Amino acid sequence: MGNATFNVAVIEGDGIGPDVIAATRAVIEAAQARVGGFSLNFDYHDAGAGYYAEHGRDMAPGSEEGVAEADAILLGAIGLPHIRATDGTEIAPHLRLRENMQLYAGVRPVKAYPNGPQKLAAPEAAKIDFIVLRESTEGLFYSAAVHGRTDIANDDEVQDILRITRPTTEKLHDFAFRLAQKRKRRGSPGLVTCVDKANVFQSMALFRKIFHERAAAFPDIETSTNYVDAQALDLIRRPWAFDVLVMENMFGDILSDLAGGLVGGMGMASCAEIGDSHGLFQPAHGSAPDIAGEDKANPLAAILSGALMLDYLGERHGVEQLTNAALEIESAVERAFAAGEMRPMEFGGDQGTKALTKALLAVLG
Ligand SMILES: NC(=O)c1ccc[n+]([C@@H]2O[C@H](COP(=O)([O-])OP(=O)(O)OC[C@H]3O[C@@H](n4cnc5c(N)ncnc54)[C@H](O)[C@@H]3O)[C@@H](O)[C@H]2O)c1
Repeated sequence: MGNATFNVAVIEGDGIGPDVIAATRAVIEAAQARVGGFSLNFDYHDAGAGYYAEHGRDMAPGSEEGVAEADAILLGAIGLPHIRATDGTEIAPHLRLRENMQLYAGVRPVKAYPNGPQKLAAPEAAKIDFIVLRESTEGLFYSAAVHGRTDIANDDEVQDILRITRPTTEKLHDFAFRLAQKRKRRGSPGLVTCVDKANVFQSMALFRKIFHERAAAFPDIETSTNYVDAQALDLIRRPWAFDVLVMENMFGDILSDLAGGLVGGMGMASCAEIGDSHGLFQPAHGSAPDIAGEDKANPLAAILSGALMLDYLGERHGVEQLTNAALEIESAVERAFAAGEMRPMEFGGDQGTKALTKALLAVLG
């Protein structure tokens, strides 16, 4: 039987995007060669602020349809602050993709690596390993993501809407519980914490109610609840005590940055955006124009996002080798840190993008 083949749409984008994507592709292909049993076709699409400045549109003709047909989308970074659309906003076709493909589950892993840039002095901080699961299509971003959804917006008053719907929330919580089950099989405690403000907002009370309803279908997973303000405190006080944290859009936006700060910086922040029929994988950082073209970017956020993509494809299509390739990459990053082989310039080390990638490839074998 031939290899299972998957199409990956690649958007390199702006700034450091092409550099971190080149690193990611090299690592993915090394893992693929090691594990075998699957093939990937990489199909590149032009998009972003640079493309907009030259062509007057944010994605190449046919690319929006092209990426929607792919098995997964891998994105570097999009946006350059000095290039703006006529309404003054930045060029951001990825936000349109998120909306059009209804990528509701924003998965943001937060993990401390040995010798990594740990910010907390407590020895338990070495054990930090949790996921911020951020709903990404509604919540308090509902009126921000798409213009014209605000009823009142004038010079005297603006109202933004916090929207929670049952169908999206059911899917989100189910996703959280399945993720906790998968992590439990790999040694995590199997705990989902619902982060909300159910003491004050009706929308958040509904979010929590649906959490308890869905939990009944996952008796092997423990549950807890935490108000978002208390969760901010606990992320400093005992972040190692959490496994999967599920929350609405704006809370996830804020807490994922706080959580990312516990274990380093933007160069470690990987991200998966998953919907019912599409998955987009990109580092959480932007195009870093201040270091673009200087071989200084830390490619690990993009590389770990690539591993999330392989894991997603493996689970979705039942191809164990893809899952194994993802685990190979994650384990190589862990081992490389432990051996002192990962020294990103981002954290004051001596390795730029190319040197870091080379060192990781050597560990991957
Ligand atoms: N999803 C995306 O594509 C995305 C996300 C955030 C920002 N942006 C866009 O990126 C542009 C720059 O935004 P910004 O400066 O606010 O955020 P940014 O994430 O690009 O940079 C913030 C800081 O982090 C550093 N940094 C980011 N990624 C790094 C990496 N991999 N290695 C080392 N250092 C890294 C940068 O040098 C900078 O000092 C803007 O146009 C913004 O709209 C895009």
